[in-house]
Amino acid sequence: MATLSQDDLKTLVGKAALKYVVPGEIVGVGTGSTVNKFIDALAGMKDQIKGAVSSSYASTDRLKALGIAVFDSNDVEELAVYIDGADEIDGRGYMIKGGGAALTREKIVAAQSRQFVCIADESKLVQTLGNYPLPVEVIPMATQQVIKQFRAMGGSARLRLSSGNPLVTDNGQHIVDVTGLEITDPLAFESEVSQWPGVVTVGVFAFQKAQVCLLGTAQGIKTLTF
Ligand code: 5RP
Repeated sequence: MATLSQDDLKTLVGKAALKYVVPGEIVGVGTGSTVNKFIDALAGMKDQIKGAVSSSYASTDRLKALGIAVFDSNDVEELAVYIDGADEIDGRGYMIKGGGAALTREKIVAAQSRQFVCIADESKLVQTLGNYPLPVEVIPMATQQVIKQFRAMGGSARLRLSSGNPLVTDNGQHIVDVTGLEITDPLAFESEVSQWPGVVTVGVFAFQKAQVCLLGTAQGIKTLTF
């Protein structure tokens, strides 16, 4: 069999996620290059679903361009399933997310969903979270204070830039990326950092962890359940 590229693996898991979509319902949709493959596949069954709740302007644009209706999360009681990628996922279904700066909306949609199905290529599976720079969405005036608090924890944090200027999220806020931390207790870490003044969302998804991960590997798709 020809070697599969990372892009091929993303396509595979994006398509495989279709079996978790409940016909007749609204599906929660994440953000990123892997989710883009899922959205493209979802277009093939758009007549079987009511539509989607989206976690970013980017995903909303892609969904709408393919003729999939997008609902406001406030107008939807509960979602059966949320499909999203991850920057890292561990053996318990805890994740780092937010590489695409959509972490706040992703956590909101994940929280209104009964099941989180993570789609990822095998490079995302880790023993311990923290190698990937941890995204934290912050209110701009708190940036330096938050950076100092991560430094006191032993990490190193910097403001994310886009074309030389602070990146502005869909929520009008900034992102700080944190390196040098081993996150051995994701639940405790998420609880603590979420309480710091000015933190909008920390990119550790422990309370909103995955229940299933479709992992694209050289041997095919592995289904991990947590
Ligand atoms: C965006 C995210 C993405 O799920 C994460 O960055 C993975 O993206 P990709 O599928 O492009 O590797 O959290 O905020």
